[in-house]
Amino acid sequence: MPRKPIIAANWKMNMGPAEAAAFMDQFIPSMEGKALSCDVVIAPPFITIPTVTAKLQGNTTIAVAAQNVSDRDNGAFTGEISTTMLKELGVTYIILGHSERRQYYGETDAIINSKIKKAIADGFTPIFCIGETKDERLAGKLEEVLSTQLSGGLQDLTAEQTAAIVIAYEPVWAIGTGLTATSKEAQEAHAYIRQVIAKLYDTDTANQVRIQYGGSVKPGNVKELMAQPDIDGALVGGASLKPDSFAALVEFDR
Ligand code: 13P
Repeated sequence: MPRKPIIAANWKMNMGPAEAAAFMDQFIPSMEGKALSCDVVIAPPFITIPTVTAKLQGNTTIAVAAQNVSDRDNGAFTGEISTTMLKELGVTYIILGHSERRQYYGETDAIINSKIKKAIADGFTPIFCIGETKDERLAGKLEEVLSTQLSGGLQDLTAEQTAAIVIAYEPVWAIGTGLTATSKEAQEAHAYIRQVIAKLYDTDTANQVRIQYGGSVKPGNVKELMAQPDIDGALVGGASLKPDSFAALVEFDR
């Protein structure tokens, strides 16, 4: 079965409720009547999620993601948000292991693995992010970094579970820098990721898992990236903050 593309907006620490309401008021009507070939996901900050889901009442084509989650059920974990809380809000995807969480908040492969398992156990689809820094790439460590992040993050997952998650390849040096990996560089990394999944599981699993590219994706480069055989979508930061720009991204094939 062909893999359905998935385009996701990662708003990061942008867009409070008022700004998000204005975004949705423009974005939703611009999508009306358009048969999209991809899944569309928006990941607002936690506090903005209720505004976005309220605007999406009755809309079945746009899904909502969280940008993080706790691996605990509930209790004395100040500042954390649980899967139960996200479920109550209608969230279905959770971004996990973003390089900004790894870099600024000390998330390790083991922590990310624990969160991925919790998200899956409670019925969410993780968007599991991996990617190398510039120094790692220059040192020839791309494959080593990706395979370590993959085997650590996916530890204990069954083949069925891994086939159903979304992986986002986001080279750290391309995030928010305006530097995009060339479509060739991105394709090579995606093909390598699929090779690692095939080794950890089997080729069926590797062929089923959807792999997004992230890092300065814009309306002007999305088409070429999406044309690569192993690129199944995009995880977009900056260019997802404006309704017309995000609309152009989800309509990449028009
Ligand atoms: P930019 O699109 O702003 O480079 O961010 C990419 C990203 O980190 C998405 O998760």
